[in-house]
Amino acid sequence: MKANLIRLVYTATACAALAMLVPGCGDGGGGAAAGSGATIKVGEYASMTGKEATFGQSSHGGTLLAVEEVNAAGGVLGKKLELITEDTQSKAGEPATVVRKLITRDQVIAVLGEVASSRSLEAAPIAQQFKVPMISPSSTNPKVTEVGDYVFRVCFIDPFQGTVMANFAWNTLKVRKVAVLTDVKSDYSLGLAQYFKQRFEQLGGKMVIDQSFSGGDKDFKAQLTAIKAAGPDGLFIPAYYTDVGLIARQAKELGINFPLFGGDGWESPKLIELGGEAVEGKFYSTHYSPEDPSAAVKEFVKRYQARFKGEAPDAMAALGYDSVMVLVDAIKRAGGTDGPKLRDALAATRDFEGVTGRTTMDPQRNASKSAVIITVKNGQFAFVEKINP
Ligand code: PHE
Repeated sequence: MKANLIRLVYTATACAALAMLVPGCGDGGGGAAAGSGATIKVGEYASMTGKEATFGQSSHGGTLLAVEEVNAAGGVLGKKLELITEDTQSKAGEPATVVRKLITRDQVIAVLGEVASSRSLEAAPIAQQFKVPMISPSSTNPKVTEVGDYVFRVCFIDPFQGTVMANFAWNTLKVRKVAVLTDVKSDYSLGLAQYFKQRFEQLGGKMVIDQSFSGGDKDFKAQLTAIKAAGPDGLFIPAYYTDVGLIARQAKELGINFPLFGGDGWESPKLIELGGEAVEGKFYSTHYSPEDPSAAVKEFVKRYQARFKGEAPDAMAALGYDSVMVLVDAIKRAGGTDGPKLRDALAATRDFEGVTGRTTMDPQRNASKSAVIITVKNGQFAFVEKINP
């Protein structure tokens, strides 16, 4: 029965590949009849496959757990939630297609997604156009919620994350001359690079070289050679884990031994697999740590591990979970799922207690939350410190 309420609409091959990895994949197909009104349909769009597959898989794990818990406790306003998940394949072009389908064909009452800012930016105008609230769990580029008043997020934004990493570089790593390596295909990377630089220069530091690449590139030797020659004492890489793993390896091969550091885009179990020794001792900022001693986090980790066979939930999982809970809270306060009313209730969210801290929607529909810094130690992620907004 429970499985019938979770629909996943992957391509057949993606699902076959994922069935081993993602609990819930393959449950799909038997959702309640469309338009019957028997359930509350919630859309989710995530990179379940492709270059940033672990982002979507983690986010989906947290989202699914939250939906199952809400349903086990009786649902919302007397109805069960029905989650309909679409795979963006980590590709441009897909988010707009699948979100349009979720809204016009499945008639979802809200869409949750995406993790990556560029993909959220692509789909947000469609949610806005149809007046269907969208909640991004973890896209941090400021432009995402600027698309319109139906677009929300439950995470901090990059002006804060850039400031956190500039302060950390300056105060803890004692970096004075920094190099920055930016992915020009990613709104997230471009924004975070800019906010980092602003704060770093404000502190009295200098950016001695600025290099770029396109996400998916395989050879970073030219950029890294130029960076090494510029003589910085630190390298900031605001990019996603697949690229970071390769960059770190090639930097090591070139004898670069000053610190490398980045933002939440580094977060993936694959980072350590791809980067190996080369990511040891490196640092990144993110939204939450499963090592946080708070009761809310401890309980969440326990339930997630019970549901997903021991896997520890990362930041995307925790934010995915909170995106559902913030939506459910708003549906209750709205007393229904009508788009404009639900939008107003979401905008009025104040001090909602979740796994990633308290969510209050500011007038720009962004949340203000703590950041954590993580390092890689003996091939494992380790918590370094928590920074409050
Ligand atoms: N913040 C990133 C973006 O906006 C996505 C991300 C979130 C990556 C959380 C890892 C963890 O693109």
